[in-house]
Amino acid sequence: MDQVRIGLIGSRGRAEQLAPYWHRPDGRSVVVAAADVNADHLERFRQEINPAAFVTLDYRELLARDDIDAVAVLSPDFVHEEHAVAALRAGKHVYCEKPLAITVEGCDNILRAWKESGRQLMAGHNMRYVNLYRTMKGIVDSGAIGEIKAVWVRHFVGWGGHFYYHDWHGNSKNSTSLLLQKGAHDLDMIHWITGRYTKKVAAFGSLDFYGGDMPDDLTCPTCAKNDTCTDADFTHLNQCAFRREIDVEDNSMVIMELEGGIKATYLQNHFTPDYQRNYVFIGSEGRMENNELENKVYVKTRRSNKWHELSDVVYDVKHAEGSHGGADAVITRDFLDMIQHGTTPVATPLAGRMSVAAGVAATESIRSGGRVVQVSGLPAFV
Ligand SMILES: NC(=O)c1ccc[n+]([C@@H]2O[C@H](COP(=O)([O-])OP(=O)(O)OC[C@H]3O[C@@H](n4cnc5c(N)ncnc54)[C@H](O)[C@@H]3O)[C@@H](O)[C@H]2O)c1
Repeated sequence: MDQVRIGLIGSRGRAEQLAPYWHRPDGRSVVVAAADVNADHLERFRQEINPAAFVTLDYRELLARDDIDAVAVLSPDFVHEEHAVAALRAGKHVYCEKPLAITVEGCDNILRAWKESGRQLMAGHNMRYVNLYRTMKGIVDSGAIGEIKAVWVRHFVGWGGHFYYHDWHGNSKNSTSLLLQKGAHDLDMIHWITGRYTKKVAAFGSLDFYGGDMPDDLTCPTCAKNDTCTDADFTHLNQCAFRREIDVEDNSMVIMELEGGIKATYLQNHFTPDYQRNYVFIGSEGRMENNELENKVYVKTRRSNKWHELSDVVYDVKHAEGSHGGADAVITRDFLDMIQHGTTPVATPLAGRMSVAAGVAATESIRSGGRVVQVSGLPAFV
């Protein structure tokens, strides 16, 4: 296939970041269609990406077309399962944004449809394509810090109010919890860099800052308190962050045991002032830590009777242009490589399913008082 013809389900938001990489009329792929529930979004998609594209309010019309080879599911989490399963059954290759689905059953339904379709599937775990985290993965794989035994991940989601409490994300019926919605990235990084999946978890968490008793239909531009509210938002994400329906934890701590007995902890907090991810991996021969703000990785080594012990190392990670630290340019290419050359993507659907499974288990633990919950393993059919 010389040029992959791509249809999008979800035409704004995430699509604004990915579509420009895929719409290359003289290149390997072209975005020929989009479906959305919002007509204005489709109009803007046509203006900004492809005026000649087919657009529809009913994604099934997009799937019925035989001039589309592949579909990117860029819609909100709670419709990924419906959209990805239908696209695979329609014979399309599929890129599905993270989290793969909002339940383990939903993920497994996607995986089953994938296996039955004979088509290609990948998950939108673009952190696997970020230079900083690729560097950390490379360091671990090189053996520089030995065998990983302990992991400590803190995610300070300083933009929590803006991205997660002003629209659909803040209600568990749409996202299950932010341990999936946001945490799927971090849980996947823990799995990817260690090369091990989570076996069991225990977690505590609560809604300590957002949520409250404001009306569900209140928006910031119409709110009488919008001149003093700490979280007033005048973008399109403007539902009140302190409204009643909000029920997903903004402060969560997870303890995890991975395959091979690796111990990990994960903090996700949505009301910190700053935004960064801090990752620490401790192995039998050293310790590795990132600094996202400086784009650096620090490696300290211990006595190992190998040349590694002779130096500590600071990696000054190169800057990459484009959205998500350059990752979107690479993940979109990986999708095309998968379709055109049959390569296995770095962001595999099985990994996408396992980060959801770990997040679901952690959410269950939080909501049942912190008990230990086993993580559902991959189904036998994959
Ligand atoms: N990998 C990343 O870095 C990254 C970044 C942002 C978002 N995402 C993921 O992308 C997905 C979309 O997130 P978003 O912030 O763009 O969401 P969004 O709420 O902005 O919605 C995206 C688009 O989907 C449309 N849409 C809503 N419901 C739909 C439906 N039922 N059918 C078809 N279209 C529908 C919306 O109108 C919008 O145009 C989420 O799953 C999110 O987790 C991933």
